[in-house]
Amino acid sequence: MVAITEAVSFEKQGEIGLLWIDNPPVNALGYPVRKGMADGIAMAQKDDGIKAVVVICKGGTFCAGADIREFGKPPKEPHLPDVLTVFDQCGKPIIAAVHGTAFGGGFETALSSHFRVAVPTAQFGLPEVKLGLLPGAGGTQRLPRLIGPEKALPMVATGNPISAAQALKEGVIDEIIQGDLAEGAVAFARKVLAEKRPLRRVSQMTEQIEAARSKPEIFANYRKQLAKAARGFEAPEACVQAVEGAVNKPFAEGLKYERELFQKLMMGSQSAAQRYYFFAERQVAKIPDIPKDTPLIDIKKVGIIGAGTMGGGITMNFVNAGIPVTLVEVKQEFLDRGLGVIKKNYDITASKGKMTPADVDKRMGLIKGTTRLEDLADADLVIEAVFENMDLKKEIFRKLDAICRQGAILATNTSYLNVNEIAAQTQRPEYVLGLHFFSPANVMRLLEVVRGAKTAIPVLATAMAIAKKIKKIAVMVGVCHGFAGNRMFAQRKREVDKLVLEGASLAQLDKVMYDFGFPMGPIQLLDLIGLDLGWNKATSKGETMQQVLCEDGRLGLKNGKGYYNYDPGSRVPKPAPEVEQMILELSRKKGLTRREVSDAEIIQRCIYPIINEGAKILEEGIAVRPSDLDVIWVNGYGWPVYRGGPMFYADLVGLDKVLAVMKDFQEKYGDTFKPAPLLEKLVKEGKNFNSLNN
Ligand code: 3HC
Ligand code: NAI
Repeated sequence: MVAITEAVSFEKQGEIGLLWIDNPPVNALGYPVRKGMADGIAMAQKDDGIKAVVVICKGGTFCAGADIREFGKPPKEPHLPDVLTVFDQCGKPIIAAVHGTAFGGGFETALSSHFRVAVPTAQFGLPEVKLGLLPGAGGTQRLPRLIGPEKALPMVATGNPISAAQALKEGVIDEIIQGDLAEGAVAFARKVLAEKRPLRRVSQMTEQIEAARSKPEIFANYRKQLAKAARGFEAPEACVQAVEGAVNKPFAEGLKYERELFQKLMMGSQSAAQRYYFFAERQVAKIPDIPKDTPLIDIKKVGIIGAGTMGGGITMNFVNAGIPVTLVEVKQEFLDRGLGVIKKNYDITASKGKMTPADVDKRMGLIKGTTRLEDLADADLVIEAVFENMDLKKEIFRKLDAICRQGAILATNTSYLNVNEIAAQTQRPEYVLGLHFFSPANVMRLLEVVRGAKTAIPVLATAMAIAKKIKKIAVMVGVCHGFAGNRMFAQRKREVDKLVLEGASLAQLDKVMYDFGFPMGPIQLLDLIGLDLGWNKATSKGETMQQVLCEDGRLGLKNGKGYYNYDPGSRVPKPAPEVEQMILELSRKKGLTRREVSDAEIIQRCIYPIINEGAKILEEGIAVRPSDLDVIWVNGYGWPVYRGGPMFYADLVGLDKVLAVMKDFQEKYGDTFKPAPLLEKLVKEGKNFNSLNN
């Protein structure tokens, strides 16, 4: 074995050279890998004893792509496209031997080789689009030549990977290797030599693209198909353009075109946001005072109390992961209703072919319904999801403390209540924490892990680990009213209410926020959630629009009338002239002079207070780092990932600008806009939120 660089070495097995890449953790194509690959192939070319080369990786995976950490820094030669041209043009057969994930530049390396073999568990994908980019090392040009643009388009423009079996079926790979990959790949290389197979240079394949050249509808149709999921994103359209380029341009020109599109995306703010977010989502699991090797508590059985909206969804998460759940309700009738909703949800999934009836039975079989809290005696983790009522929750925790075995974790799904107060009802506050799921709990990926003042480190580490097991993105937060997410969200809700009375139209508010990138506007969202959430009939005095609407029996989508009207069974909002009147009346009653509100003001009024609250949360130590807040917003509140999250967005706008606008609003509208001291401090020091990420 000869070391070429610190990440690449060359091994000879008779006539076959093995180019080993070893750059943990994912063999990203950083400088030492690129240089080693180029030099290794040059070496093999010169060595008369070597007749074929196998490119293969150490560790858990083939190359997972370019080194994303190098993006945005001055590029260092050799560039990946040039290295892959060396592969393409090599006179001796190169065989890519893939295990794990051949992603991005890794897949492009395989596509630039002359043959590809893989283990059965390997995956192939071009996830660049998820980073706001497109494959920039020939992927958009080679893949359509290999499998045709129709099959290449979804891979390039959605970034979703395919399995080895599918790759074999589509002709992406030549063979699946059972057993040892290196041995199998060397045997394959020998076969190529023995059979004198011609080099299969993908760059020179023309059949598939020629067939597509007279069919521009392929692209028109695909654009239509992509439109909804790609709304607001720049990269997917660039991906389609690049594949179009593959069909209509000679290879070398296509490569140039791909490069231009790639560079443009790389310079833009969307890719910067999405690359930032990629690391933010990985950083969130790292909590400074929780060592990586913290012993975890084994969670084999889970108890869930309350089979309502949240309890049902939470139950589904665990049984989906194969963990049995004991579900407790007060009455058999409520239990039956809750179990019925769960079954219906699974049946819908099965009717779409995403699950078999046997899967449904298996999951339902993992749920044991009961009306006896005592049945939770052997649970390792209990999650309470009863009504948002402190006295009720306290009573339940007192009972749980007596029923549950020592060492079992007791969690509450409360949205706003004080977790420390709940923990204090037990003799084991160190085993108590908040697990704040988001609705619908079986769909939303966010989970706020609420750390109580006394929660023990292994309990927190276990919560973070179990979240991963049930496919949630867990963000650790501290105790305060509404924790991080809802506390920030309350800022927007307050401003939306005020803007409606000041003169912004409902449609304008919805359009501006939708165009900003949220999945729906704030008014539509209020109608969807239900206007009576947090409304109290006894204390309601017609002082806010929420009160006015609820007093008039307008509860939102659920009864067909809220801010908007809805036809039965429809979710499409229709203007409600009667509500316009109610708004005008309340405005008048409050002595407000209605005015035209600009779109820019709507964005600033709705977003900047969220940022400001985020700053307060950070200085209070409720969240670990700004990027954690961004992860919360992307996964819990529909913040468009191409804007990174509110804290990233603030950096992009410029904290000095955010501060100046907040001060201006404070003067005009009062102290709810008072800038957070942390915001003032960062501006004074010329720093941004990102400087606090670690
Ligand atoms: N560059 C740099 N670091 C990377 C990386 C990459 N391409 N991919 C993963 N990493 C790092 C992660 O940040 C993480 O680091 P940490 O341990 O310090 O937090 C570590 O590798 C492990 O990653 P994961 O936690 O994600 O591990 P998993 O096993 O869950 O997933 C994976 C592995 C499927 C490879 C996943 O990491 C992944 O999807 N990576 C991104 C792949 C990608 O986007 N590739 C395209 C890059 S762009 C490109 O290739 C451009 C080219 O066309 C020119
Ligand atoms: P829900 O009203 O839909 O369900 C509550 C269920 O608890 C009801 O089925 C009720 O019969 C049951 N219950 C009441 N007392 C009980 C007891 N002593 N033992 C067993 N079951 C009992 O309420 P939802 O929306 O599911 O909320 C539950 C909790 O989750 C609340 O604390 C809420 O704040 C929180 N939450 C709610 C979210 C939402 O969007 N609905 C989002 C995140 C958290």
